[in-house]
Amino acid sequence: MVPLKRRKLLSTQTGNNGNSGTDVIGVKAPVKFPDVVIFLLERKMGASRRAFLSQLAAKNGFHVQETFSGMVTHVVSEGNSGAEVGSWLDSQTDGSAHRPVHLLDMSWFTQSMKAGRPIDITDTHRLQQVDESEVEVFSVPSFACQRRTTLENHNTVLTDALSLLAEMAELSAEEGRGVAFRRACAVLKCLNEPVTAMSQLRGLPCLGEHSLRVIQDILENGASSEAESTKCSERFKALKLLTGVFGVGCKTADRWIREGILSLQQLTDSAHSLNRAQQAGVDHYDDLNQPVTKAEADSISVIVEKALVTVLPGATMTLIGGFRRGKQTGHDVDFLITHPEEGAEVGLMPRVVSWLQSKGFLLYQKTTRNSYLEAKDGPARPASNMDRFERCFSIFKLDKQGPGLQSHTQRATDGEGSHFGDAVDSVCEPENGQIKQWRAVRVDLVVSPISQFPFALLGWTGSKLFERELRRWAGHEKSMSLSSHALYDSTQRTYLRATSEEEIFTHLGLEFIPPSERNA
Ligand code: CTP
Ligand code: MN
Ligand code: MN
Repeated sequence: MVPLKRRKLLSTQTGNNGNSGTDVIGVKAPVKFPDVVIFLLERKMGASRRAFLSQLAAKNGFHVQETFSGMVTHVVSEGNSGAEVGSWLDSQTDGSAHRPVHLLDMSWFTQSMKAGRPIDITDTHRLQQVDESEVEVFSVPSFACQRRTTLENHNTVLTDALSLLAEMAELSAEEGRGVAFRRACAVLKCLNEPVTAMSQLRGLPCLGEHSLRVIQDILENGASSEAESTKCSERFKALKLLTGVFGVGCKTADRWIREGILSLQQLTDSAHSLNRAQQAGVDHYDDLNQPVTKAEADSISVIVEKALVTVLPGATMTLIGGFRRGKQTGHDVDFLITHPEEGAEVGLMPRVVSWLQSKGFLLYQKTTRNSYLEAKDGPARPASNMDRFERCFSIFKLDKQGPGLQSHTQRATDGEGSHFGDAVDSVCEPENGQIKQWRAVRVDLVVSPISQFPFALLGWTGSKLFERELRRWAGHEKSMSLSSHALYDSTQRTYLRATSEEEIFTHLGLEFIPPSERNA
């Protein structure tokens, strides 16, 4: 199928083809400068702007040709590189001998219109003709865990579109498609310069046909028609909104949508009984869809630290997840807790939770027990070893006036989360005309025995794709099985010990990548 946007362009072009070869614009006014025959390139300029500029030029006595031919002396384009216009020209002329055509930037056109005559061409007007061999062709290794991906992204337009398509695939429970888009996205994130031409992508890994089509659409038209139409689709909007409720996954959201539930109002009006997590999700919808700031994460660190000092002196905690990777905001705050003495951490989570509850810090919590045991003959299947820590999914009640937070109280009116306009959040309504003094924040707590700490630290720092790629690398390239608990070498039939993340990378035969460069 031809993407929407391109279909539109095609149909306009078909419409114009009725006049192909004729010079409809040039005949409108007497031509004052017969030596100059202008052709305006529609690519990136768009049909309507091209039509407007054509008429402007014709009115000023310039000869503008609507269709490219050998008579053209000046090709004017906007937002295209010399290489792009060069290859377009080649396609027009079958790549045959170069004609004496000037490839010019819009600046020459505007200045000429202003002057009322074709001005002399200088180097600043000319599109830079770069030799194909000089165009930077990117090269990166295939596994994201072999690459350094910082938070600095030079290709946000491309990665935003691919992330959106990945998100839609994930929300539709199409995991394979989701991973494919995430991998393509991660490759673009680690490039040290913006992509300007498809030719630069030659030889890059993980860029499938579909992702390349999206990239090409953006390079040619400024936006991906598929990403744009997905973003605007009712289904995407409803899936986002409903899975934005804590405790609601894509399967539940899909079922509700099929029942006609598209908004939170419809959900609360429906007869559906929500589980405890989902009820908390609805109650605190606005707060939980508002990004958590680093200052808020630090404020929660202070509280968790206090709990630890009280219930088990010597226990330590580490900020993990996105904040450990240097992100300034996140959807939650993640902590990894351990104790230097193996076994001292047993039973720690319930005591931490009790303390937090007694102080009124918890709006919701669900704790799961540790169930990990090393098997004598190694992990049966890698996935069975995931997620076996003592964990607590919780919602904290964070005082907005807490240490270091005073300046953040006005944030509710701006930023990412504010578009969830129709949220039902009775708890968060100002009570008796008073502004709510606290806000709900998602917090994940994980307890690990010290022997597994480096694996837990590596496994919970993320990003999700980086973790996935680490496990894929271990399996495919090393015949090893990596989890957040252990690393098993299938060839030697043994568990490989580690006392630091660095040692795990060494076991895996990988260069150490610090957390700030794991933002794949
Ligand atoms: N994780 C996990 N098992 C889960 C959920 C998460 O192992 N059931 C790991 C993920 O692999 C990730 C880390 O926990 O490495 C943090 O997950 P999450 O908080 O979802 O993502 P962040 O990277 O912290 O992103 P955000 O800033 O949006 O919270
Ligand atoms: Mn997180
Ligand atoms: Mn988390």
